[in-house]
Amino acid sequence: MGAVLEPTSSGLLMAPALATPAGPLPRRGPALTEVDVVRDVAVAWNEGVLTYVGPVAEVPEGAARPGIEPLRLDRGLVVPGFVDCHTHLPFAGWRADEFELRLAGRSYRDLHGEGGIARSARMLAEASDEDVLAFCLPLAREMAAYGTTTLELKTGYGLSVDAELRQARLARRLADLVPQTCTVTLLACHAVPEGIGRSAWVNLACDELIPRSAEEGLVDAVDVYIEDIAFGLDDLSLVAATAQRAGLPLRCHADQLGASGAAEEAVRLGARTADHLSHVSEAGVLALAEHDTVGVLLPASTFSMRAPPPPVASLVDAGAAVAIATDFNPGTSPTLSMPETIAIACVMYGLPPLAALTAATANAACALGIGDVAGTLEAGKRADLVVLDVDGFAEVPYRPGHNPVLTTFVAGRRVAGR
Ligand code: NIG
Ligand code: FE
Repeated sequence: MGAVLEPTSSGLLMAPALATPAGPLPRRGPALTEVDVVRDVAVAWNEGVLTYVGPVAEVPEGAARPGIEPLRLDRGLVVPGFVDCHTHLPFAGWRADEFELRLAGRSYRDLHGEGGIARSARMLAEASDEDVLAFCLPLAREMAAYGTTTLELKTGYGLSVDAELRQARLARRLADLVPQTCTVTLLACHAVPEGIGRSAWVNLACDELIPRSAEEGLVDAVDVYIEDIAFGLDDLSLVAATAQRAGLPLRCHADQLGASGAAEEAVRLGARTADHLSHVSEAGVLALAEHDTVGVLLPASTFSMRAPPPPVASLVDAGAAVAIATDFNPGTSPTLSMPETIAIACVMYGLPPLAALTAATANAACALGIGDVAGTLEAGKRADLVVLDVDGFAEVPYRPGHNPVLTTFVAGRRVAGR
């Protein structure tokens, strides 16, 4: 796997400082910036699970395996590993030419069909399973070097029942090969496949694709892309009902290119997340504020698409639980770096740095339904942590383009570092 795996997942780390979100999840409003900071900190873990996070002076007996050599750092800030809760891996191939065309004035909608999602579907179909894995593995390793310890994988570049199932199986294989923990989402309705009408595809997705994916245990959630060029609110209701019958949580690409009312409808249907939100309505903001549906912000896609930002201040002030993720994909967001994404969230979306930290860790874990095991540093959670070469977290968004990650640990194992 190429990652540096140490033989043991027990350890004791001592560092000048640690910052972690704490308190009831998901974090909302002013609580987004309430981050616990511990100076002269010790972090201990056993079997990949944190046993102690607190002052060096108070490490309890037996917190780490006896005889373990402590790792003493004379610089650095320890934070929870980044949880990239929205990516479109696995895919196979880039679309930089479409980016150039967009810079020259063509629109994403205009390229949809010849280019866009359908083109990535063609590239995936033309690649062998081994080609796809060989393309994706170095990308996942690069993500580990940028501090991502958990990531979501998605389908959506299959566009037929068989090709979607293949992509889901590839996602599970990729999950076994990468150093991080992964969840897999079935993006059952991403683009209307050629040669079949929109509602015929939704029926096929509901009758065959979602039930088969669930039966085979291939996926952990179901996603739908609601947009004028993709699927509508009626389709969302049908998929929501099917996902519920299959016991799978719902996610929704909502209000990305235009306003559709998708965010409030996703909340009404009990979706775990509503993602993008660039054109979310006031009703959508209020709905998110009143429920546990996490609003997943994708600032790197806003940046690459030169799109208007969502009303982030309204979302935060109203009390919505917001997360941030890369949306890593070859079309709208070829950025895999969470530090870069955090920088864009702060600069373009106006999130305070500590709110961005919470959104990229604790709330992002909630978006994946794993808030009880990942996203904060406290005893009982997985030892997913990164050491940053900063004195305070604000230095991360302050220096876009710089990789601040010194070391990445997944379940207590060092998987990347410099
Ligand atoms: O989240 N807009 C829908 N899906 C992706 C883009 C997919 C693509 O262009 O390949 C997104 O932005
Ligand atoms: Fe996406």
